[in-house]
Amino acid sequence: MAVREIRRATATIAAAIIFTFGLAGAATAEEIPASPIGVDTEFSCYQCHGKKEITPWIAMTWSESKHARGGVKCDSCHGNHDKGFDSGEFTPLPGPEKCAPCHPINVKQTLAGKHAGLVKCSSCHPRHTFSLEVAQDPLICMTCHLESKHVQGYRNSKMGAVYRVLGPGMSATCVTCHMPDGEHNVSLTLKNPELMLKVCNQCHSGAFAGEVLKTGKFNLHW
Ligand code: HEC
Ligand code: HEC
Ligand code: HEC
Ligand code: HEC
Ligand code: HEC
Ligand code: HEC
Ligand code: HEC
Repeated sequence: MAVREIRRATATIAAAIIFTFGLAGAATAEEIPASPIGVDTEFSCYQCHGKKEITPWIAMTWSESKHARGGVKCDSCHGNHDKGFDSGEFTPLPGPEKCAPCHPINVKQTLAGKHAGLVKCSSCHPRHTFSLEVAQDPLICMTCHLESKHVQGYRNSKMGAVYRVLGPGMSATCVTCHMPDGEHNVSLTLKNPELMLKVCNQCHSGAFAGEVLKTGKFNLHW
C-alpha cells in the first residue's frame, strides 16, 4: 500500500473509533492551532486535520476565512469520509455543484460563459481562504492566460504599471473589464461592446475609449 493509502485507511478506522467513542482523547488541545479569529474549531474534521501530521495548513487557512466566520464547515463542501473515502458521502475535490446551494448566481453566471466546464471555482478562489484579493489580481488570471498577446500587452501597459504601483482602485485589471460588478460570465462584456464601453467610461472619456475599441488601436496602444 502506498503511504497515502495507509494514511487514508488509518483515517477511516480512526474516524470510526471517534464515531463510536466520541472525540475524548483523540487529540490533545495543544496540538491543534487555534483560529486567529476565534471561530468554533471543536468539530471532528478540524480536530483531526489540524494535527501536525495531517493537514494543519488547510485547517488554519479555513479557520480564518469568511466561510469559517459564517459557520460553513468542511462537511458543507466535502461531506465526510467516516464510512471510507469511496462512500458516496465524500467529495475529495468539490466542484461548482457543491457551491451552488449557497452561491447560485455565481455558479449560473460562470456556466453561461466560456469558463464553463474548463475553469473551477477554486482556480481563482484559492482554497481554503477563498480570498477575494487573490481572485481579483491579474496574477491569478495569468496562471492560465499568460500566453495571450493581449495579456502580455496588459502586463507591459501603463494600466498594468499603474495598478502594480498604486494598487486596486487606481487602474483597470482583467476583472475590471471582464468581470465588472462581480459578473462571473467572462464572455459577457466581450459579446456586448456597449457594456465594455461603459466599463471604460468609468475612467476615460467615451470618445477616447470608443475610438480605441472601434479602431482596434487598443492592442497597438498596449
Ligand atoms: C481521524 C482523523 C480524521 C478525521 C476525523 C477526518 N479526517 Fe479527513 N483525512 C484524514 C487523513 C489521515 C486523510 C489522508 C491525508 C493524506 O492523504 O495525506 C484525510 C483526507 C481528507 C481529504 C482529502 C482526500 C483526498 O483524496 O485528497 C479530505 C477532503 C478530508 N479528509 C475531509 C474531511 C472532512 C470533511 C472531515 C469531517 C467531516 C474529515 N476529513 C475528518 C483524517 C481525518
Ligand atoms: C467552501 C467549500 C470548502 C470548505 C468549507 C472546505 N473545503 Fe476543502 N476543498 C474545497 C475545494 C474547492 C477544494 C479543491 C478542489 C479542486 O481543486 O478541484 C478542496 C480541497 C481539499 C483537500 C484536498 C486538496 C489538498 O490541497 O490537499 C483537502 C484535504 C481538504 N480540502 C480538506 C478540507 C478541510 C479539512 C476542511 C475544513 C477545515 C475543508 N477542506 C473545508 C472546498 C472546501
Ligand atoms: C453552506 C453554504 C456555503 C457553501 C456550500 C459555500 N459557501 Fe461560499 N460563502 C458562504 C457564506 C455564508 C459566505 C460568507 C458571506 C459573507 O460573509 O458575506 C461565503 C463566502 C464566499 C466567498 C467570499 C469570500 C470573502 O472573503 O469575501 C467566496 C469567494 C466563496 N464563498 C466561494 C465559495 C465556493 C467556491 C464554494 C464551493 C467550493 C462555496 N463558497 C461554498 C456560504 C457557502
Ligand atoms: C475567473 C476567476 C473566477 C472564477 C472561475 C470564479 N470566481 Fe468568484 N469571484 C471572482 C472575483 C474576481 C470576485 C470578486 C468580484 C468583485 O470584484 O466584486 C469573485 C467573487 C465571488 C464571491 C463573492 C461576491 C459575491 O458575488 O457574492 C463569491 C461568493 C464567488 N465569487 C463564488 C464563486 C463560485 C461559487 C465560483 C464557481 C462557480 C466562482 N466564484 C468562480 C473570480 C472568480
Ligand atoms: C484555470 C485556468 C483559467 C483561469 C485561472 C482563468 N481563465 Fe479565463 N479562460 C480559460 C479557458 C480555458 C478559456 C477558454 C479559452 C477558449 O475557449 O479559447 C478562458 C476564456 C476566457 C475569456 C474569453 C471569453 C470569451 O468569450 O471568449 C476571458 C475574457 C477570460 N477567460 C478572462 C479571465 C479572467 C479575467 C480571469 C481571472 C479573473 C481568468 N480568465 C482566469 C482558463 C482560465
Ligand atoms: C481595459 C480593459 C481590459 C483589461 C484590463 C483586460 N482586458 Fe482582456 N479584453 C479586453 C477587450 C476590449 C478585448 C477584446 C479584444 C481586444 O480588443 O484586444 C479583450 C480580450 C480578451 C480575451 C480574448 C482574446 C484573447 O486575446 O485571448 C481574453 C482571454 C482576455 N481579454 C483576458 C484578459 C486577461 C487575463 C486580462 C488581465 C491580465 C485582461 N484581459 C485585461 C479588455 C480588457
Ligand atoms: C479603472 C479605471 C480604468 C478603466 C475602467 C479603463 N482604463 Fe484605460 N487606463 C487607466 C489608467 C490608470 C491608464 C494609464 C493612464 C496614464 O497615466 O496615462 C489607462 C491607460 C489606457 C490607455 C493607454 C493610454 C496612453 O496614453 O497610452 C488606453 C488605450 C486605454 N487605457 C484604454 C482603455 C479602454 C479601451 C478601456 C475599456 C475597455 C479602459 N481603458 C478602461 C484606467 C482605466
